[in-house]
Amino acid sequence: MAAICNQKGGAGKTTSALELAMALVARGLRVRVIDADPQEASLSVWLRFFYPEGLPEADRKNLRDLYFEPEVTLQDVTFATPYTGLYFTPSFPDLKDVESKHPAGTETLLQYHLRNGGDDVDINLIDCGPGLGPLTVSALVAAHDVYIPVQAGSGLDVRGAAALNRTITTVQQRLNRELRVAAVVLTDFEKSTLARQIGHTLAKAYPDAVILPARTNIRIGAAQLAKEPLRTFEPSATTVLDYDLGARILFAQVQA
Ligand SMILES: Nc1ncnc2c1ncn2[C@@H]1O[C@H](COP(=O)(O)OP(=O)(O)OP(=O)(O)O)[C@@H](O)[C@H]1O
Ligand SMILES: [Mg+2]
Repeated sequence: MAAICNQKGGAGKTTSALELAMALVARGLRVRVIDADPQEASLSVWLRFFYPEGLPEADRKNLRDLYFEPEVTLQDVTFATPYTGLYFTPSFPDLKDVESKHPAGTETLLQYHLRNGGDDVDINLIDCGPGLGPLTVSALVAAHDVYIPVQAGSGLDVRGAAALNRTITTVQQRLNRELRVAAVVLTDFEKSTLARQIGHTLAKAYPDAVILPARTNIRIGAAQLAKEPLRTFEPSATTVLDYDLGARILFAQVQA
């Protein structure tokens, strides 16, 4: 179970969560992507998923309901997608209420539900929003692994990285000793001196993490507009191969 996390906006969290999930699904695994991003423009806005036939609108629950309604289960907020093996937990509307109202038990809520009912799929991936608030903390408490996407072309945000590290260390000390940074994904990667330097710096900062480049593809935006992952929109893209490699390295032990 992994949280894809970086409080910097536009780092490639959502792209990495979805494309890694699709790479795992292509290997025959069942994967749930949990949209823990309270922004209006999160993955829930464009990824297609299906409510069960005949489910009344009032019963269409989402991640917000998991935090606020004790009787709601993870299964109630998990839905099929057009991609066999990919399941999705949407976040809208009003997931941001969790950050402002902070319902009791927020920090451990996702951990509780993933421990009690999260094994209906092989792998759970949590797509965090661009913040280090209660939602991101609850994702870090629930996860074993953190994957940190970093925009390889835009230089390192040193202060932002320090804040992320502080949050991860605090969660490790107080709430989740198992948590580890398992991967850094260099998104929008093109061979350049800057990208190489960023790679080296991150490899030193996270000596136990796998450093995975995900090469630039200018069609990722078009894929989103078409409401599709890059993998189905442009299956031959080199970026798809990069996420395949990442999935093989990070989940070598998990068999379909
Ligand atoms: N490998 C790539 N090549 C080119 N563009 C990319 C690549 N990966 C991500 N992008 C682009 O970068 C932008 C940000 O990506 P994404 O939405 O995944 O970031 P995010 O970290 O989830 O952002 P937010 O913090 O807003 O949730 C998007 O427009 C996406 O299309
Ligand atoms: Mg995102």
